[in-house]
Amino acid sequence: MSSNIDHLLTETRRFAPEPAFAADAVGTADLYARAAEDRLGFWGDQARELLHWHTPFTEVLDWSNPPFASWYGDGELNVAYNCLDRHVEAGDGDRVALLWEGENGDERRVTYAELTDEVKRVATVLEGLGIGAGDRVAIYLPMIPEAVASMLAVARIGAIHSVVFGGFSADSLRARIDDAGAKLVITADGGYRKGKVSALKPAVDQALADRNGSGVQESVEHVLVVRRGGNEVEWTEGRDLWWHEAVAAASADHEAQPFPSENPLFILYTSGTTGKPKGILHTSGGYLTQAAFTNRVVHDVHPETDVYWCTADIGWVTGHTYVTYGPLANGATQVLYEGTPDTPHPGRWWEIIQKYGVSIFYTAPTAIRSFMKIGRDVPGGFDLSSLRLLGSVGEPINPEAWMWYRGVIGHDSTPIIDTWWQTETGAIMISALPGVTETKPGSAQVPIPGISIDVVDDAGEPVGEGNGGLLVVTEPWPSMLRGIWGDPERYVETYWEKFAAQGYYFAGDGARLDDDGDVWLLGRVDDVMNVSGHRLSTAEIESALVAHEATAEAAVVGASDETTGQAVAAFVIIKQSYLKAHSPEGLAQTLRQWVGEQIGPIARPRDVYIVEELPKTRSGKIMRRLLRDVAEGREVGDTTTLADTAVMSVISAQVR
Ligand code: WT7
Repeated sequence: MSSNIDHLLTETRRFAPEPAFAADAVGTADLYARAAEDRLGFWGDQARELLHWHTPFTEVLDWSNPPFASWYGDGELNVAYNCLDRHVEAGDGDRVALLWEGENGDERRVTYAELTDEVKRVATVLEGLGIGAGDRVAIYLPMIPEAVASMLAVARIGAIHSVVFGGFSADSLRARIDDAGAKLVITADGGYRKGKVSALKPAVDQALADRNGSGVQESVEHVLVVRRGGNEVEWTEGRDLWWHEAVAAASADHEAQPFPSENPLFILYTSGTTGKPKGILHTSGGYLTQAAFTNRVVHDVHPETDVYWCTADIGWVTGHTYVTYGPLANGATQVLYEGTPDTPHPGRWWEIIQKYGVSIFYTAPTAIRSFMKIGRDVPGGFDLSSLRLLGSVGEPINPEAWMWYRGVIGHDSTPIIDTWWQTETGAIMISALPGVTETKPGSAQVPIPGISIDVVDDAGEPVGEGNGGLLVVTEPWPSMLRGIWGDPERYVETYWEKFAAQGYYFAGDGARLDDDGDVWLLGRVDDVMNVSGHRLSTAEIESALVAHEATAEAAVVGASDETTGQAVAAFVIIKQSYLKAHSPEGLAQTLRQWVGEQIGPIARPRDVYIVEELPKTRSGKIMRRLLRDVAEGREVGDTTTLADTAVMSVISAQVR
């Protein structure tokens, strides 16, 4: 990381907004002034201007019991009504909401009127299955219009969705279903990935099978199955229902009822520093306000004219906030793409941009870096002139990738917004406003209007300009997480205890302020890795590794990787009996695959090093810092606190 910082410090390129862009931009400089003058008044205005409230709120924030917040607490709204019905009522029913492109070339254009109709029917189906306000529904779907419709139907009836990324394994799905106590799972037979149908339903069947002896009471009563892949599926009579049958038969007469602003909207599981994923809880009014606000002012969405595309899967928070909720609350037209960027050819994304005339494009640095590797000729073969704004999210974007993105994809003229936020923050917190801010390649720059952040030292003292430290949020914000599902203590402990004296939210990221006060993110300071913009916990992968019978002990670190930002590197001690019977290469391959099956392919280690010992302190704590040195091919740092200082030379020799 230190080489990274040195590099960033020398970055001096600046890009001022083009006057024509600035003149038409939604986000303007006066927003900062208004928010600085009266922060809560500002957020009250945003909530009233951007959303429809069935019952207006009288209080913006109740922070009398920190860190448990209530935003717009006495207001009532319906999230789905805000994303759908009101646009139809305003006469925009014929506007396209979703420009869906299947990986296999299938196409569907879904208007706001059609999506509203579909969501009403699905809401009727859910109610018929006994789902009501507060019940949990797991969603395990590919990127198809039904995924968005499912989320909105759950929201419409005041229930809580827990979307599980389709790339997660049956075990991961089961853990999430159990933790949330989901009554219903919405899934598909399969979806297209990398040129073929990848089945989903079998993972649901496996997750729900054979609870005998597990001590867990099955919470799931029904499985609603979308037909997409056309693949054969097993069927459990009485439990499983086809979406196309149930939804077609259901009434589209469904009036959206108001729910309290703090009604839970969704749970989304994310990796923390322990082995058990945390169910991050978000609620309705505050979340939707900041989702809609940031999508308007940061992505500069003009709903009447723009074609917007956020490439995130709905299994991640970016897909929640910037595919489903933000753009639909704003009445935008967006592309939804099912598949991988390189199927059936490496220019697929650029082809989609050309085909639909995408004007706003939001993706992750890891994707940009992998396109850089393939070369500029591939995007060069498509007409990308419709693009007028590019965004980045999920991990630090290095200045080279930023410059390539602007030059090759953005025809040397589009603004680039580098947006910092987290599953926990619910929406963008730090970013340039594209019509206002002079941008710097590699820096996320400034908190958005209404958000207060700082960089502090371990004692919570501001480090000041020109210095590095820990990123904190110093005031509550509308889309903040409201807790960890079922674990209020872990919520307080994880995010609020470190700076309890100051009342700051601890984000877990290192950051530096430059001489202008702009923020440069430096990566996680805890045992959380960021691989291709996805969060993985070292502990979670370690516990998967030791769950394999060949493993005696394991330590996992995030090692820097040119394309994926970080990659998983595992150091594993193998049981003697296995070492004798298997080759190290064979064992490494087996374990790599095993982790993929246990958690999901994204967690599969890039490297598995078979070692004899792990570096530990006298109190038995594994020194991951030293393993990271080895995995990144650096000279090993200070080993004096090790119980056995010779260990590292043995490991280094073995790894080489
Ligand atoms: C972590 C949150 C934000 C939605 C997708 C990831 C890292 C995120 C940036 C950025 C540097 C970033 C942080 C953060 N991160 N955006 N623009 N620059 N780092 O959400 O899975 O909750 O991960 O991603 O380390 O803590 P997430």
